[in-house]
Amino acid sequence: MIHDDIKKIYITEEEIQVKTLELAKQINVDYDNKRPVLIGLLKGCTNFMMDLIKRVDLYLETDYMDVTSYHGTTQSSGIVTIDRDLKVDIKGRHVLIVEDIVDTGFTLKKIIKVLKDRGAASVKTVSLLDKPSGRKVEVSVEYIGFTVENEFFVGYGLDYREEYRNLPYVGILKPEVYSK
Ligand code: IMP
Ligand code: MG
Repeated sequence: MIHDDIKKIYITEEEIQVKTLELAKQINVDYDNKRPVLIGLLKGCTNFMMDLIKRVDLYLETDYMDVTSYHGTTQSSGIVTIDRDLKVDIKGRHVLIVEDIVDTGFTLKKIIKVLKDRGAASVKTVSLLDKPSGRKVEVSVEYIGFTVENEFFVGYGLDYREEYRNLPYVGILKPEVYSK
């Protein structure tokens, strides 16, 4: 079972739910009357996006971008490609990017620039996790769920080689999993 591969549960399901509600309440206040477009970055955003938008009590639209920067390993590269683009026209719209984790910052920096260049009225980011120790480029993240240490995390959307996204919590893998 996938749970057996976990060395440690780092953030529990309950902690995530409490934090998500907190973030949603702040977004309710900050985006009141702004009809924002929430843009999820696939695939890591999915679990967080679903839980977050249920708690945001605003008129909003959702859309998704599929962006590759990680290639499914623990090594990050600075190359960011858009594999699936938006359907919504974001010109003049208030955009809120929904991320699972900000690590080097390459992904976010590139996407923020793309969205601003398309004429968004504002571009901000909400990320479940922030790993500041991994940062290689400066980027601002307005809403952060949890600031985490320099580890590799899986679960609640986050993958290792495309697996473990379905864990209901955020955890750290046992070292032997990497040598499988
Ligand atoms: P960045 O461009 O380095 O900031 O990378 C952001 C993306 O890398 C995230 O959206 C994740 O998909 C992936 N990533 C970064 N750190 C982790 C991790 O600890 N576990 C799983 N994926 C990660
Ligand atoms: Mg991601």
